Amino acid sequence: MPRRKLPDNFYERIKPGLHERVGRELRLAGTVLDLGCGSCELVQYLAETYRQKVIGVDLASDNFPKKRHTHAGVRFRCIGRDATHIDFAADDSVDAIVSMWALHEMHHPKAILREAHRILRPGGKILVVDFPRDSLAQTLWHEDYHRPEDIAQMLREAGFREVRDRLTAYRQIAWVHGWKRAT
Ligand SMILES: C[S@@+](CC[C@H](N)C(=O)[O-])C[C@H]1O[C@@H](n2cnc3c(N)ncnc32)[C@H](O)[C@@H]1O
Repeated sequence: MPRRKLPDNFYERIKPGLHERVGRELRLAGTVLDLGCGSCELVQYLAETYRQKVIGVDLASDNFPKKRHTHAGVRFRCIGRDATHIDFAADDSVDAIVSMWALHEMHHPKAILREAHRILRPGGKILVVDFPRDSLAQTLWHEDYHRPEDIAQMLREAGFREVRDRLTAYRQIAWVHGWKRAT
């Protein structure tokens, strides 16, 4: 679809579908960390749908929900931290890490990906979902976005293996995943 035909609320409209895709991709993880979780929507979706132990991390805690359980009573955590230094998580301690629509806002993405690599368990998966350069997002919000292949390269430099990048959702979303080498 040509970009000019996409509605301005395109990203809001595709968000539930992206949450479902993230959930399917990370469904086997027992513990999931969401870096740059914002208002914890994805955190709550994963906790409710897959009953995972989900922890959201964000610099700004003002948008965190007051209640820390889902409608069905599943508890989740939201922690105010700079993702460059996730001091509450031990090495090799989480099964999966996701970051949605946040990496482009992070001032030190390489340091954050190195920290993600530290706390991910061997064999664990990282998934980065973001707005790519030259997308509708750039037209709407004029921010500086990464190319999928640049995100992939940052993941490799942070130590991740079997990194794959692609554009999806009418090429308006960068979808990049990688693995921490199993020991
Ligand atoms: C566009 S919002 C996306 C929020 C959410 N992931 C979503 O899908 O709606 C980007 C978030 O990244 C957070 N952020 C930016 N730099 C960060 C950092 N260094 N550590 C943790 N969070 C950060 C911002 O505070 C913001 O809430």
